[in-house]
Amino acid sequence: MHLSAATQFNPLPRNLLIGLIAACLPGLAAAQFTLAPLPYSADALEPHIDKLTMEIHHGRHHNAYVNNLNAQIKNNPELANLSLEAMQGQISRFNTAVRNNGGGHFNHDLFWQLMAPAGQRGAPGTALAADIDQAFGSLGEMKKRFDQAAIGRFGSGWAWLIVTPDKKLAITSTPNQDNPLMDLPEVQRGTPILGLDVWEHAYYLKYQNKRGEYATNWWNVVNWNEVTRRYTDAMK
Ligand SMILES: [Fe+2]
Repeated sequence: MHLSAATQFNPLPRNLLIGLIAACLPGLAAAQFTLAPLPYSADALEPHIDKLTMEIHHGRHHNAYVNNLNAQIKNNPELANLSLEAMQGQISRFNTAVRNNGGGHFNHDLFWQLMAPAGQRGAPGTALAADIDQAFGSLGEMKKRFDQAAIGRFGSGWAWLIVTPDKKLAITSTPNQDNPLMDLPEVQRGTPILGLDVWEHAYYLKYQNKRGEYATNWWNVVNWNEVTRRYTDAMK
């Protein structure tokens, strides 16, 4: 007997197929945190931060945080409905793996944006510059205190310039991949407008153990246009 194509292959009824796809798509779309490309080429911050460090830092370290965070969604399905930023503010609800990898993903996403190639770095905006002078005495003094926070952080972590909930500038630091948005009792909370990664993976190839030299040179690549934009948003 000859079989027609329709009898050899019976596809799912059209409505059922559409329903299945619709049921799966929102979950799939929300479930995956992704690694965005660097906003500039890996050698754009040379000579202060070398190309190989940038490639490894972004392509391996940051990528691992993203993958490890995605692996947590299975056991923490509510993560799929949270933005990365919203997750930070309720991180105390989750386990250490989410704290470390969710923090790692957020911190690095921010870090790449806080640096820029030559010619695109700008300077602190008028209001930010005045606020820095008021809070710290001068831009140079702010940098000095920020570097002290970076150098003084024992082990791995971050130094931050934040806008506190009462709209003041402050310098703080966090261990590991914690950040000032996290609802943790040991964190000085605020909106981060500038952050420096002081994990050895951020500088060891070029600077080895000289974290202070890395921190000092890093000021040469800060994207003040982005810092000013974040300051303006945080002050609203
Ligand atoms: Fe890092």
